[in-house]
Amino acid sequence: MKGVILAGGLGTRLNPLTQVTNKHLLPIYDRPMIFYPLRALVEAGIRDILIVTGGNNAGDFLKLIGNGAAFGLKHINYTYQKGEGGIAEALGLAEHFSGGEKIAVVLGDNIFERSLKPFVDSFKRQKSGAKILIQKVADPQRFGVVSFKGKKVLKVTEKPKRPDSAYIVTGIYMYDAEVFRIVKTLKPSGRGELEITDVNNAYIRAGRMTCDILPGWWTDSGTFESLLRAGQLVARDPSIPKPGRRRS
Ligand code: G1P
Repeated sequence: MKGVILAGGLGTRLNPLTQVTNKHLLPIYDRPMIFYPLRALVEAGIRDILIVTGGNNAGDFLKLIGNGAAFGLKHINYTYQKGEGGIAEALGLAEHFSGGEKIAVVLGDNIFERSLKPFVDSFKRQKSGAKILIQKVADPQRFGVVSFKGKKVLKVTEKPKRPDSAYIVTGIYMYDAEVFRIVKTLKPSGRGELEITDVNNAYIRAGRMTCDILPGWWTDSGTFESLLRAGQLVARDPSIPKPGRRRS
């Protein structure tokens, strides 16, 4: 299985921090944001990784990550997304890289406490389709919100004013190669972007989506509040290795 980190976009919700750099290069406590999802994929056993970047200072990713040696990788792939066409558009750029294999896609501003390995392994065993990881949050209207009938997932609604539940879709998605056909059918949403939620709904409608609850803490870091929260969670979590410090 291959991994894709989506680190494009203009990060406008974090202006002026993102006026001269890419959101995913901003610090979360003691390291750049992109290090967390990259480490999460590597820790889950994924070695073939593509970073989709874009916006300001995309070249800085290369300076920072190089060939991924600091993460135990031999090589890492990069591609460039122009403008702010949305998460699903960025994902579309990974078609050639994926070469027909299943992929694990992580949003570059998502930080996970626990290992993603059990879910990646379970998706390897899943014959085809897709998998999302969901979590209960206090502010679901900020995210893709899951509607259920009993335990069955009916649909995901992107940033609804009145959420059907407190369960939201986190920024780790697993797809089979069908995803690229779906991306090509999408139309831009109200915010002018191709939405990952529309991709997920296509799999749900086809009865090809599995859904697990993500354990441990999780946060995005694309707003001032969540950026601060992410830093605080990482700083006080002994399970996140801190550079230059021994674990006690
Ligand atoms: C995106 C997705 C949303 C998901 C969230 C997770 O939101 O569109 O469905 O719940 O990531 O971080 P965005 O960060 O683009 O607002």
